[in-house]
Parts: sequence; structure tokens; C-alpha cells
Amino acid sequence: MKHLIEPTDLTRAEISEIIALADRIIEHPEEYYEAMAHKKLATLFYEPSTRTRLSFTAAMKELGGQVLGFSDAARSSVSKGETVQDTVRVLACFADIIAMRHPIEGAPLAASEVSPVPIINAGDGSHSHPTQTLTDLLTIHRELGHIDNLTIGFCGDLRFGRTVHSLIKALSAYEGIKVYLIAPDALKLPEYIRHDVCDRKGIPYEEVDSIEEAMPNLDILYMTRVQKERFLDQDEFDRLKDNFILNAEKMKLAKKNMAVLHPLPRVNEILTEVDADPRAAYFRQVACGKYVRMALIKSLIDWKDDPKHPMPEKKDIFTDTTLRCTNPKCMCNHEHVTPYFKRTEEGIIRCAYCESKI
Ligand code: NCD
Repeated sequence: MKHLIEPTDLTRAEISEIIALADRIIEHPEEYYEAMAHKKLATLFYEPSTRTRLSFTAAMKELGGQVLGFSDAARSSVSKGETVQDTVRVLACFADIIAMRHPIEGAPLAASEVSPVPIINAGDGSHSHPTQTLTDLLTIHRELGHIDNLTIGFCGDLRFGRTVHSLIKALSAYEGIKVYLIAPDALKLPEYIRHDVCDRKGIPYEEVDSIEEAMPNLDILYMTRVQKERFLDQDEFDRLKDNFILNAEKMKLAKKNMAVLHPLPRVNEILTEVDADPRAAYFRQVACGKYVRMALIKSLIDWKDDPKHPMPEKKDIFTDTTLRCTNPKCMCNHEHVTPYFKRTEEGIIRCAYCESKI
């Protein structure tokens, strides 16, 4: 059975299959109106979300399936103290597939350890957001026609922006990717992504101080908002929030066929004057999100008993009760779960739930 906890749980071939299916659904939606008839998706959203939850709901309904679940954990049994693993064991009796968003890093991984149905990580804290990544890859494929050989500028909150972390991980499976990192010092890309993904998988990156510096080289500009809810210090947030703003003037420096992506919601990092530019792809990206989730739900349900689509082998994962993850936002410090760790090729030990260095 295949869960989608990390973008790397899918092989490049599986991602291509999902993108091809999404393209097919866009062209012939009527062929898929009954594709998931009598199937149910449970959406367990422990953290606020509009577009991701509604995108999953719209996707399942357009496939003829049904949706159940909660969007406010405070009104579910969670408020009685039920663990994520128990909630999932229960919901799996009612649903064929589960999409979960949680503020704690690694919660969907803990869910997948006990779930008899596929779990989709719909965002875990500032860690990962693999279905946004599939959305981004489908958008890039439809805007530019290819995913290999791209130069991508990531701008804004690269520290807490989980969509950035997941997209960089996924891009490590493609050829000729170059990355510009455009962020203030306090919002830099986490060490584990720079080290384990960029350095080890050979994605060259350059850090620059302004959008203008990177712009002429970019095929994709990936804008993000500063993640207010993840700051412990509000003054720091106020100082950083308006650091990088995209406007029509800066768009003049860009290639004619570049595309601007943003996972949304935007706050004020892209001025509305950019929306009319044909290169502003962020609203088309939202539509891609629904189609790629249709393709993903159908694929994970179809692949459930197919030995050709296993989870990747976790040969580097081990458990050791003498080690401790110190990340206060990690699942292993919130609920009683087996402490799993992984060792990188250089011998660095990381928590398997949140990827913090031990
Ligand atoms: C993103 C998220 O939730 O991480 N939004 C989304 O899923 N479309 C980005 C964000 O909240 O800034």
C-alpha cells in the first residue's frame, strides 16, 4: 500500500503517471465522473485550511466519491484527548483513504504506521506538504512543458514554508535543476534541506539578496508568504513580513515565458498589479491542485493492493530508546509513538518524524 507522507514516497515514474492522469482528467473530465463511486475520503484537518481541504473535497466529489471528516479538531474526539493513531484507526473503518493536516511535524507519518488505508499528508507543521508539490509540478509541466532543466527562484519564507521544502525534495529526482534562494537571514532554508537534499543530490543553489538579482535567470519564481502562525516572536514577524514584494516593475526583468507560482494564500508579497500578467500562474495553479488531487486519490486507491506500488524501502530507519528528538513541534514529543530515527550517508542521525538533527 502506498501512503503519501513525503514527496519522495512517490517514484519519478509514479509522479509522471499522476501528472499524465491529471492531464487526461482535465481534457476528459466526463470519463472520471464515476471513477470513485461508493468510495469515501476522510479529511482530518487539525489545522486551519481553506483551499487544501476544499480542493480535496472538490476532487473526491468530481470523481463521484463521498467525503467525511472534520475541519476543526476542537469539535471532534481529539478534544477528549484521543491520539492521532486512534483517530485514524477509527476513521479507517469508515473511509477508503484519509487526508490529514496537522500542526505537529510527523503526525501523518505516525498515522501511516497504523492505518490500513492510504494516508495523504495534507501539510504537517512547517515540515512537508507533498500534495502542494504535486500541484506545483503539474503547474510547471502545463506552463513550461517540462520539469527537467529548470532554474527556480524560491522567495520569502524558506524556513517555515513547507511547500518549498517539499518541492525542493521532489525536484531532486529531476535533471539540471538550479535554485536561487531569495530570503532574509532569519528565514533561510533549513539546514537539513540544504545539506541532505541540495548538497547531496546535486542541486546547485545560490543565495541572493533581492528578486531583481535572480529574476533574469529564472524559469519559475516561487513566491511564498511569511508564515505568521509559526513565529514565536511577533516583533520578528513584523520586521520580516514585507521584505520581498513582487510588482509589475520587477516582472519587466523576467524571461517572456517564465511563470510565477505561489501556493496561496498571498498576503502582500505579490501586488495585485501582477495578476494580469500572463506569466502570473498562481490562480491556474489552484485549478491544477484539484485535478492533481483527483489523480492522486484515484491512483492511491487503485494501487492499494498492487505490489508494483510499495512504499519505498526504509532501510536506513531504526529505533533507539536512548536517543531523543528535542524539537518541541515534533510528533514524538506530543504523543506516545515509537521513536524512529534515520542515518544519512554521512552518518548524521535525524528524527524520522521531523528530520531534526539528533
Ligand atoms: C500553503 C500551506 O498551507 O502550507 N497553502 C496551501 O496549502 N495552499 C502555504 C501557506 O499557508 O502559506
